[in-house]
Amino acid sequence: MVNSHTDASTKLHEAFSQQFLIGAAVNPKTLITQRDLLTEHFNSITAENEMKFESLHPAEDRYTFENADRLIAFAKAYGMAVRGHTLVWHNQTPNWMFEDHTGGAVNRETLLARMKSHIETVVARYKGCIYAWDVVNEAVSDSGGELLRSSKWLDIAGEDFIAKAFEYAHAADPEAMLFYNDYNESIPEKREKIYALVKSLKEKDVPIHGIGLQAHWNLEHPSIDDIRQAIERYASLGVKLHITELDVSVFQHDDRRTDLLAPTKEMLVRQAERYKQFFQLFKEYSECITSVTFWGAADDYTWLDNFPVKGRKNWPFVFNMAHKPKPSYWDILDAARY
Ligand code: GLA
Repeated sequence: MVNSHTDASTKLHEAFSQQFLIGAAVNPKTLITQRDLLTEHFNSITAENEMKFESLHPAEDRYTFENADRLIAFAKAYGMAVRGHTLVWHNQTPNWMFEDHTGGAVNRETLLARMKSHIETVVARYKGCIYAWDVVNEAVSDSGGELLRSSKWLDIAGEDFIAKAFEYAHAADPEAMLFYNDYNESIPEKREKIYALVKSLKEKDVPIHGIGLQAHWNLEHPSIDDIRQAIERYASLGVKLHITELDVSVFQHDDRRTDLLAPTKEMLVRQAERYKQFFQLFKEYSECITSVTFWGAADDYTWLDNFPVKGRKNWPFVFNMAHKPKPSYWDILDAARY
């Protein structure tokens, strides 16, 4: 059926304006190369790397805010929202954070004091500009009996480093919505751990307002059923949900092919089917899902190029290399209508 809604000029964020924000992860390069696409179809942005610890705070007495400031200025200029990503993570955090001047491990008090100072400085700088922060990223372990993954944060500060991070962030900006963010969020085993963690934080009155579902998915996994169960389980905690890093790899986990120069027709059809199902589901739960962010904007740039397979390109988005709509775009608009 052709009607005005299927016009290529239908902005993604307008199609879902009654449900949730539509975001994209950006970096200093894509803010330039994808500017028109970003400002046309998205009403929220997130820094792919520029607000991570190592980018903002490379040495104890030195902050580097230029790239993050530029992103904020871009959002302001085009009236877009900003999600902050991320304050506390085991990756992309410089060693100085965990070490004293002799190179030995700092004690718990010092680590928490440094964490507090970092969070206060960063959150206060962007107060009023960033409406939601991923406060803690990926603290839960993927497999095995333990709840939390092993990390320097956990080793040195103990498990309440998580609660502390939320408390410091809340004190720095009481208006910002604070999220716990993780991947493999729809896999039942990990889902239950994330649920247990957030439940225990809520029970301790820790200021946490939402769970971020990273949503690095592919053409078959996770199943719609598992995603639905994850959404329901998390929502039962009375928190908001954000889809924070959505992309749909055209390769299955064990597919190591490197010979494809373009996605096959079958891939594009299946990808569109998946995107449509996802957005139908997001719409169904739009009482609790208030933001959907893609981990990029168009297929000319994705972190999935060369990862996890070197020499392989991926095409995970709904806009192609030339920033034109793919079948997934049209199917998402269908989902918006019905
Ligand atoms: C995780 C992190 C993101 C990013 C991706 C890969 O999902 O949360 O910040 O590093 O990995 O791009």
